[in-house]
Amino acid sequence: MSGNVDRPLIAPSILAADFARLADEVAAASGADWLHVDVMDNHFVPNLTLGLPVVESLLKATDIPMDCHLMIEDPQRWAPPYAEAGAYNVTFHAEATDNPVGVARDIRAAGAKAGLSVKPGTPLEPYLEILREFDTLLIMSVEPGFGGQKFIPEVLAKVGTARRLVDSGELTVVVEIDGGINADTIEQAAAAGVDCFVAGSAVYGADDPAAAVRALRAKAAAASAHLRL
Ligand code: DX5
Ligand code: ZN
Repeated sequence: MSGNVDRPLIAPSILAADFARLADEVAAASGADWLHVDVMDNHFVPNLTLGLPVVESLLKATDIPMDCHLMIEDPQRWAPPYAEAGAYNVTFHAEATDNPVGVARDIRAAGAKAGLSVKPGTPLEPYLEILREFDTLLIMSVEPGFGGQKFIPEVLAKVGTARRLVDSGELTVVVEIDGGINADTIEQAAAAGVDCFVAGSAVYGADDPAAAVRALRAKAAAASAHLRL
């Protein structure tokens, strides 16, 4: 057996949606397992998106579990309110704090799952010991900040490391990948052991976002079938 989630999970990123019609765009991606919401503060990354008020409104507009990806400085201060608001999972960046365990505990205490994210160039090894404090591990496959970038396949080594630790029972994190996931790249990520796939432009750039979600899930399921034997 290989982990404890009903995978593969597909998490459309609304970064690629029409921000003037967010509720409709969320509804258009029906069948999504998680809804991925990219929070950027123009400090941790060179882009600015949305914050807590928009997340609070989105939570009222959908029942899809919300996967908040905080690309922000000072997550110790800003992350717990997303959990209090009702987000399902709140992920922050390892590079943004010197107290990741404290932030994770605060997120969990506020009622959400806690996620740790690493940029493409950030190694996993320094964080392996603390991952038992987390529910999700978000491995970035592009530099955080913008949608529509090219998938960086070298990060799949980190996916493999995390997959082995989950399969051996040492960790229980959901292994999630974010950036450049589309019909051409999802199979290699699935074969490496990803549980949850974030996809922005591949879902919202499609004529039928719900069909794109189904197609991505089918490809990921086929490419990871051998891992579930
Ligand atoms: C980038 C964001 C991603 C982004 C992915 O910093 O974290 O979630 O929306 O977009 P695509 O799927 O287009 O690479
Ligand atoms: Zn993201």
